[in-house]
Amino acid sequence: MKIGIISGSIRQGRNSAHVARWVKDHADALASDGVEFELVALADYDLPLFDGAVLPAMMNKQYDNPAVAAWSEKIDSFDAYVFVTPEYNHGVPGALKNAVDSLGPEWTDKVVAFVSYGADGGVRAVEQWRQILANFNIYAIRSTVALALFQEFGHEGFAPLERRAQEIEAVLTSLIQTTERVGVPASL
Ligand SMILES: Cc1cc2nc3c(=O)[nH]c(=O)nc-3n(C[C@H](O)[C@H](O)[C@H](O)COP(=O)(O)O)c2cc1C
Repeated sequence: MKIGIISGSIRQGRNSAHVARWVKDHADALASDGVEFELVALADYDLPLFDGAVLPAMMNKQYDNPAVAAWSEKIDSFDAYVFVTPEYNHGVPGALKNAVDSLGPEWTDKVVAFVSYGADGGVRAVEQWRQILANFNIYAIRSTVALALFQEFGHEGFAPLERRAQEIEAVLTSLIQTTERVGVPASL
């Protein structure tokens, strides 16, 4: 089982890089022979704004743009994901929404967990993600880690509260167990 930890913002000085690294550190403690985690930085892909004439769902995973092709190949290689997502204007960050919209079957029938952050833990973004990703028949894990922007991020960097270690372990365990149950989509 391969699980991609997607660092879902691209702005300079983004906090998603620190949060995703923290998720990966905890994930590695849960990795085993059959369970592998990989960090995926959305910012590395330099994706164009989706403007295709054909729906990605109809593209059979064949894309002309090399950045989109590389993104497709990477996302397709996972059975499950952790979305590390900020909240932008009470919603999902546009760059990650565009990255989701740019693909189709690569996301279908998989499993996702969320680690969010914001003034109120980024929970509004997560609730929007649940609705958006339902279109891919993605199974979304109920429990999340919702990090408090004004308590856990500052000049000193990212300093999660002590209880977050337990929370992320519970989320990742649930993600692994659910992915084992759901399995790799037969259509892929
Ligand atoms: C365009 C923009 C809109 C934002 N809107 C919200 C918001 O609605 N709610 C919130 O809690 N934080 C909001 N923030 C603050 C972000 O939570 C904070 O800047 C966070 O670090 C952004 O994630 P990033 O560093 O990975 O880009 C916003 C930040 C940006 C850049």
